[in-house]
Amino acid sequence: MKQIIVHAPATVANIVCGFDVLGLALNEPYDKLVMRLLPEKTIRIINKDNFMLPVEPEKNVFGGALLAMMRELGDNIGFEIESTKNIMPGSGIGSSAASAAGVVVGANHLLNSRFSKLDLVRFATYGEEIASGARHADNIAPCIYGGVTLIRSNDPLDIIPLNFPPLFVTVIHPQIEVKTSDARQILKKQILLKDAITQWANVAGLVTGFIKEDYDLIGRSLHDVLIEPVRSMLIPGFAELKKNSIEAGALGGGISGAGPSVFMLSKDEATAKKVEQAMRSVYEKIGVDFHIHLTTVNNQGVSIH
Ligand code: HSE
Repeated sequence: MKQIIVHAPATVANIVCGFDVLGLALNEPYDKLVMRLLPEKTIRIINKDNFMLPVEPEKNVFGGALLAMMRELGDNIGFEIESTKNIMPGSGIGSSAASAAGVVVGANHLLNSRFSKLDLVRFATYGEEIASGARHADNIAPCIYGGVTLIRSNDPLDIIPLNFPPLFVTVIHPQIEVKTSDARQILKKQILLKDAITQWANVAGLVTGFIKEDYDLIGRSLHDVLIEPVRSMLIPGFAELKKNSIEAGALGGGISGAGPSVFMLSKDEATAKKVEQAMRSVYEKIGVDFHIHLTTVNNQGVSIH
């Protein structure tokens, strides 16, 4: 039986100002899947970790994404997935997207690449919907394409991979769980025109900063007047994490996806290490358990081994 190993990277959605439209992929951490093709229309999920995620395909992110793909396949085939998640569910670094994106890229490889990357993003959003209640693609697109991606439109999907300069990413994960669906529920449904103007100016500035490899412009644009003021209340020590990281030399940063992880971008590794120390100190001082990653932007997206 043909077997493949799939690595699906963590991702940072929103990149501060680009709620639901910007995201980037990380080199660490990543989930690992072992996948096999089955000769009947079925989905078999075997969890090799302790997260106790459901194994019924209709309730599971893998299942949601694969069923969307299988609806367009017609063939009498199915998939077995052995999943080892290293990206903790509810951490804010794209745990559900890594499952959804990893499984569809793996399945497509087993099917000799019948589908385009855009199709794969579309299928994976059905998995994301099971976990977060919304078919947003800002984790899935960078997970599949690698690098930094802009989702100009969800329907029809329009994904633009962006050029970007070398970036180091420090991500701190306080050991609390924030459900994306809850973190979406608390957002204001209406915003002021003056705030919208600030926000789209910063999204345009950030995209331009990436393309022109202008670190100062990236730093100036990492500013969010819509989402951060609401969601930061869910994150212990948020204001201090941000202030101390910027004092340590970070370009800027904020909530990763729906949180509770907080990420910071730095120009070089030495600065990112200082930022890591600054972030650690905040949580050591207030006594919050955490995991921390110092990594870079992943250019490749989901990979097959
Ligand atoms: N854009 C989504 C949100 C990402 O912020 O709700 C969730 O990971």
